Amino acid sequence: MDVVKKIYNSTVVVTMRLNDKINGISVAWITRVSINPKLIVISIGKERFSYLLLKSSSFFGVNILSKFQKDLAIHFGSVSGRDYDKFEGIDYELSKNGIPILKGIVGYIECEIVRIYDAGDHSIFVGKIIDEKLYNNVEPLLYGEHKILEGF
Ligand SMILES: Cc1cc2nc3c(=O)[nH]c(=O)nc-3n(C[C@H](O)[C@H](O)[C@H](O)COP(=O)(O)O)c2cc1C
Repeated sequence: MDVVKKIYNSTVVVTMRLNDKINGISVAWITRVSINPKLIVISIGKERFSYLLLKSSSFFGVNILSKFQKDLAIHFGSVSGRDYDKFEGIDYELSKNGIPILKGIVGYIECEIVRIYDAGDHSIFVGKIIDEKLYNNVEPLLYGEHKILEGF
């Protein structure tokens, strides 16, 4: 049995900007790793378009999805920004660093990329939190059992 599926996470959309290109990717492999300084990590597959963008970027945004935003998780997690503008028809604003912030999310965290570690077929991006805002104090969308979970 694939026991790692018992590790449950929040589902987020990680957003980024490189020059004029903005993109977002659904991410479940995210966690906090340090209190002081405040650090989080995201794990991004090396095949993803987002990996190429993040490798050359200084910042990323973490959009914590609410339990009502399953459609957004599927949208940002099923097509690639390589050949598609995922923000077309999506409500968002830009942070002062030009990173997209989605509407209706639980909260937004902006990070400066301070380290990148190789991790097999993924890379781990360590982000130092430089800004955070709570928008809606509702339950986040959870991921576990290899799927987005309903009814939490
Ligand atoms: C709920 C969900 C969680 C995901 N979590 C991750 C993740 O943690 N890391 C990752 O590299 N891809 C993850 N993916 C897959 C990417 O979101 C997906 O391949 C996406 O289309 C890549 O887009 P891009 O090519 O524009 O970067 C997840 C997909 C879904 C639907």
